[in-house]
Amino acid sequence: MHNIVIYICFTETLSEVKLVSKYIINGGNKLGGKLNINGAKNAVLPILAASVINGKENVIIGYPNLRDVNTMVKILRSIGCKVQKTPESIVINSENVNSFEVSENLVREMRSSIFLMGPMLGRCGKIKISYPGGCEIGPRPIDLHLKGLREMGVKISEAHGFLECTVEKLKGSEIHLDYPSVGATENIMLAAVLAEGTTVIRNAAKEPEIVDLQDFLTGMGAKIQGAGTSVIQIDGVKNLTGVEHKIIPDRIVAGTILASAAITKSEIIIENVIADHLVSVLAKLKEVGCIVLEKNSAIKIIPPSVLKSVDIIRTLPYPGFPTDMQAQFVSLLSIAKGTSIITETVFENRFKHIEELIRMGARIKVDGRVAVIKGVPKLTGAKVTAKDLRGGAALVIAGLAAEGRTIVENIVHIERGYDNLDIMLQNLGADIRKID
Ligand code: EPZ
Repeated sequence: MHNIVIYICFTETLSEVKLVSKYIINGGNKLGGKLNINGAKNAVLPILAASVINGKENVIIGYPNLRDVNTMVKILRSIGCKVQKTPESIVINSENVNSFEVSENLVREMRSSIFLMGPMLGRCGKIKISYPGGCEIGPRPIDLHLKGLREMGVKISEAHGFLECTVEKLKGSEIHLDYPSVGATENIMLAAVLAEGTTVIRNAAKEPEIVDLQDFLTGMGAKIQGAGTSVIQIDGVKNLTGVEHKIIPDRIVAGTILASAAITKSEIIIENVIADHLVSVLAKLKEVGCIVLEKNSAIKIIPPSVLKSVDIIRTLPYPGFPTDMQAQFVSLLSIAKGTSIITETVFENRFKHIEELIRMGARIKVDGRVAVIKGVPKLTGAKVTAKDLRGGAALVIAGLAAEGRTIVENIVHIERGYDNLDIMLQNLGADIRKID
């Protein structure tokens, strides 16, 4: 008679279940080969929200298959859109938008749902949406979004954790952003497409994802110019058609893979990238001692045998060094020869990966928004926890170069922004596997 033992694991909350998924990395492998870069998370999310505006069928190709994309699809379906998602494309028919409320748990799941405000106000004149909380990297206020929408005539009441927004007809306005906020720029653009008259956004954010949003919107007949500069002009229109659009490559995924190659001293090629979107990152990789060759839509990186420290990196709005690459460079510079300084000027609380890197032997001192990184000869593998998306990716990068085994827990954060990061790195020769 065999004794059968059944282990029943009761977890308190879903978040505990999420803690179970982890990456196991055995460091030290050289990487090699080529990797194709997927579409950009921060382009596809506002574009998915924008597909509500025209009430037509929109086809999005080259999208990244991410947790956040699936959440946005759930939100679009919850307000009445018909969405078909295949590996090749997402087809959204927004003809029958029949709800004006975005559920609280979906907003909590992904704060980018706030991008629905502009499209819904343009399309239906109202939206009720829960206040998107802060997240792991800071309080993430939306005061600039609300200020711009109010200047366009939107009545917004904030009560019980909800924003109730209504407007008879959005009117074009001159809007100056106190800070070149990516999200606020995009939300105001989206509201202005169907507004009466002309909207001019000054001190607008200049990220490439905003140019991609402009291309999507002009593809459906919107009249927009200036995206990529600090002044964007939108002339309101009445009629819009459907549109088909290919998402630009993800410059942050590309930068993350290049940092993985640099830290493991590996020569690799990444394809389907726009080097122009990575100028500040490539400049810092060269300062570290890498040779970076660009050819058509590919980049080849040839790292030095000893990485050089970098005097200072300050994260800034585009085209400055991207805050979304800060964590990855902290990992990279933790084994460079010499001392580097990184200042995080964009978000208040984006150094959570550092205490985890110190567990791996990194020598880093944090003083407010400044991290001082004293390079060490090597990192050692340890059990570490991802606290946010890019900080989690930074721990993976560190694990690739560390001596021994690194276990990165809570990788649900990483899966929000990387489509199978383990498989991407396995294909380049890394010893990494996912444990669910
Ligand atoms: C976008 O976030 C990106 N997310 C972020 O990527 C990116 O880090 C950020 O832009 C900066 O480049 C998406 O595009 C989905 P912001 P967003 O508004 O729009 C303050 C990732 O890892 N601010 O430019 O929220 C804010 O607190 C994510 O992929 C206000 O004060 O960024 C922050 O300090 C993380 N009031 C600064 O501006 C506002 O109304 C930059 O925020 C809005 C923002």
